[in-house]
Amino acid sequence: MSYLLGIDVGTTGTRALLIDEQGAVVGSHATEYPLYTPRPNWAEQDPRDWWEATVGSVRAVTSEAGAAPAEIAGVGLSGQMHGSVFLDASDEVIRPALLWCDQRTARQCEAITDTVGADDVVSETLNPVLTGFTAPKIIWLRDEEPESYARVRRILLPKDYVRLRLTGEYATEVSDASGTSLLNVPQRRWSDVMLDRLELPVEWLPQVYESPEVSGVITSEAAELTGLAAGTPVVGGGGDQAAGAVGNGIVRGGVVSVSTGTSGVVFAHLDEPAVDERLRTHTFCHAVPGKWHVMGVMLSAGGSLRWLRDTICGDEVAVARLMDRDPYDLMTEEAAQAPAGSEGLVFLPYLTGERTPYPNPNARGLFFGLSLRHGKPHLIRAVLEGVAYGLRDSFEIIEAMGVEVAEVRASGGGARSGLWRQIQSDVTGHPHSIINVDEGPAYGVALLAAVGAGIYESVPEACDATIRVVETARVDGDRHQLYRRYHRLYQELYRRLEESFEVAADLVQRSVAQAGEAQ
Ligand code: XUL
Repeated sequence: MSYLLGIDVGTTGTRALLIDEQGAVVGSHATEYPLYTPRPNWAEQDPRDWWEATVGSVRAVTSEAGAAPAEIAGVGLSGQMHGSVFLDASDEVIRPALLWCDQRTARQCEAITDTVGADDVVSETLNPVLTGFTAPKIIWLRDEEPESYARVRRILLPKDYVRLRLTGEYATEVSDASGTSLLNVPQRRWSDVMLDRLELPVEWLPQVYESPEVSGVITSEAAELTGLAAGTPVVGGGGDQAAGAVGNGIVRGGVVSVSTGTSGVVFAHLDEPAVDERLRTHTFCHAVPGKWHVMGVMLSAGGSLRWLRDTICGDEVAVARLMDRDPYDLMTEEAAQAPAGSEGLVFLPYLTGERTPYPNPNARGLFFGLSLRHGKPHLIRAVLEGVAYGLRDSFEIIEAMGVEVAEVRASGGGARSGLWRQIQSDVTGHPHSIINVDEGPAYGVALLAAVGAGIYESVPEACDATIRVVETARVDGDRHQLYRRYHRLYQELYRRLEESFEVAADLVQRSVAQAGEAQ
């Protein structure tokens, strides 16, 4: 029997997942690490933590599953996208990586767009330059930490740093590279236009592969640390969204996924590149060779619910611990006590700014419509509904691009809640299904490794052999009509508050500056 190993370098931790050739999960292990927010709008992690977590998770999963190293036919890597790992001439990490949810680079985004020209940015990368993306992080380092910038010899994405430690290769693949603002997305190679105009040397960037291609093999040093066999092939893998989509079977037109992890993403396959004319969604290369995808990205989906858990649901967390249950289950049980629409309470989920449909780092969260009648069940339900309204925004944009939505598959932590799935179905008007496996990006890259190892001929063939729908939440017509009206109110609230978000951001900026001066 051969096994395939998927490693997902996520924001909260790194997960290693082992599956067999038929796609059955034989083991899974996650190791967490901290996220640092040294200033408002900043989000950083230490790449060495990712590597240590990878070593720990891989060792744990192989020993728990009793898999012999030689039985592992291939490894796939997935990870949080956009993060910047800066390495010096000896491959030492120069400073903590700036993450996908870091919002410090608004000025650099403008500068890049001015330098390259907005039209050329879009024709090369198919996207605007956004604060979360990689290129503005590089320019930020050049602007703000020139001594560090002077030491840079290589720049890698999070999972590709782990690949370097596993294989000794500087390599990436098209889906993750699409989120750097440095890839020519239509042609699936680094963009000379972006690199030349930004004066960035292409030698700093890794070689680009298609996702199921073998990018290197496990070195003897990595074999010793991880327990894997030296020589085991490591495929390109995918950014977490493209990889998660493969793990959901989103590999042909008509089947769309909604995933609610920390972020919330509506993801559709494209045979040819297509772009929203207002650039509210991202068009990136897919992990299926020669294909693309479009996605709407909300920054705080499950992240909004986690924030609520951590701020006001201490009781639920304590009770859940005593009962050996998941606090989110207790929270959604409470939410079910409030009616659809939460009696006029509307939550805007822009806790860390937003990307789709408003690429605005200064947007902020809001509970609108609070009254004495509202209790915790309403607050929780309003958060579930607010995230669903944000997902509906993405559906509307993608459908207006002419993308067919015949079937929706829900995944991620949010899909585990029947109530949240039902709310999402009722708000978007599309029945949401779940599939037989919900192992996210790590599963997708394990399937890519199976293709790379020659077990399956193509990515769609691997998905067809392993993935099937098991349950569907139907749309309730009455609730759908009610939610349509609430969704309009939700959109109107953002429009009315857009200027106020700027005022608030300016105030926060000033107080940070004052506090800095006082120190
Ligand atoms: C995608 C994105 C997130 C991160 C973290 O564009 O920013 O999915 O990859 O999960």
